[in-house]
Amino acid sequence: MSKALKPWALVTGAGGFIGHHLVSYLKMEGYRVRGVDIKRPEYGGTDADEFMMLDLRELKNCQICTTGMDFVYHLAADMGGIGYITASHAGIAHNNSLMNLYMLEAARRSDVERLLFSSSACVYPHGLQTSPDVTPLREEDAFPAEPEEGYGLEKLYAEKLCQYYTEDYGLCTRVVRFHNVYGPLGTYDGGREKAPAAMCRKVSCAPNPGMIEVWGDGRQTRSFMYIDDCVEGIHRIMRSDYAKPLNLGTDELVTVDELAEIVIETSEKKITLVHDLSKPQGVRGRNSDNTRLREVLQWEPRMTLRKGIVPTYNWIAAQTAAVAAVEKSMPGAAVAAE
Ligand code: NAD
Ligand code: GDD
Repeated sequence: MSKALKPWALVTGAGGFIGHHLVSYLKMEGYRVRGVDIKRPEYGGTDADEFMMLDLRELKNCQICTTGMDFVYHLAADMGGIGYITASHAGIAHNNSLMNLYMLEAARRSDVERLLFSSSACVYPHGLQTSPDVTPLREEDAFPAEPEEGYGLEKLYAEKLCQYYTEDYGLCTRVVRFHNVYGPLGTYDGGREKAPAAMCRKVSCAPNPGMIEVWGDGRQTRSFMYIDDCVEGIHRIMRSDYAKPLNLGTDELVTVDELAEIVIETSEKKITLVHDLSKPQGVRGRNSDNTRLREVLQWEPRMTLRKGIVPTYNWIAAQTAAVAAVEKSMPGAAVAAE
């Protein structure tokens, strides 16, 4: 990018996992970056030129942060792993509906060049995800709709809002359906963590030899995307000519037990798995069909799970070790600080 141009990019949710990484990526790509969130990044500082602390459930705040922006990467959401999103349908639908409605309206009023909306594989119908050897999901499979209650239904509605704003107001939008993203600086405890981070935390905290709990029978399947691929894919999709929803994920299908075994091998510990069928499990199988992504971008995520888990595990193990060290020297201090 020419240094003279330096467009502005707004990243909402810049205090969160993907947003934090995306800010750093866009800075490296030469953009001026404004981050916005209701909280600052939990793990380390931000590379953003400006960081606004705003609640995006209010239109006036969406208006403030979109003013003067060229590109808007709208990542802010009330979200978490399957335990979190199945426990709070009303709150999640309420918070995300407001943010998504108001961000689109503010982007229109601020006359931004493009807005990218971060959707989810949770928009896909339950009926297509009932088997571990699931047929990979194509973009057109989202309708007829039967998405994840609350979170998934709201994402699907916001995808359609993007389409309507393009058709009726000429706002240029991009829609990305992420499949389970993992990597360093992601939430690993507190209830919002997804399976890869949860496994890394449990294994790093377990005695050696020891055991960890796995939700479900472990035979449910997913594909997992490393964060570096995720931010590169987001940026490529934003710059593409393609306005309809696109999957962004890997098509490396693994069982949840295989994910756990990869984490255990990375740790070099001797850990056995104990399954808990009472815990939330979500769909039985989910995989991304990347045919359209390859057609549009001539690119797709390439990091294997086995490689991507290494930096993820090392980062989470360092976090849990640091918390344990504080707890040992000052009992109660680590919990009080959270
Ligand atoms: P995250 O929870 O780490 O980040 C989301 C950020 O949004 C948080 O920092 C949160 O504070 C912020 N936020 C929430 N409510 C807000 C409000 N009212 N005002 C301003 N900011 C608010 O999540 P993430 O993993 O970085 O996900 C980013 C986006 O990608 C989300 O839209 C999410 O739904 C979507 N997504 C993520 C995954 C994944 O595997 N991580 C999968 C599918 C979709
Ligand atoms: N979170 C979690 N924690 N999941 C576990 C655990 C654990 O300790 N042990 C096993 N699992 C299993 C879950 O039961 C589920 O079957 C699978 O691992 C994946 O769980 P998550 O990573 O929490 O969520 P998901 O893949 O069902 O859905 C996630 O990905 C979507 C995008 O693909 C969520 O983060 C959604 O919010 C997101 O949109």
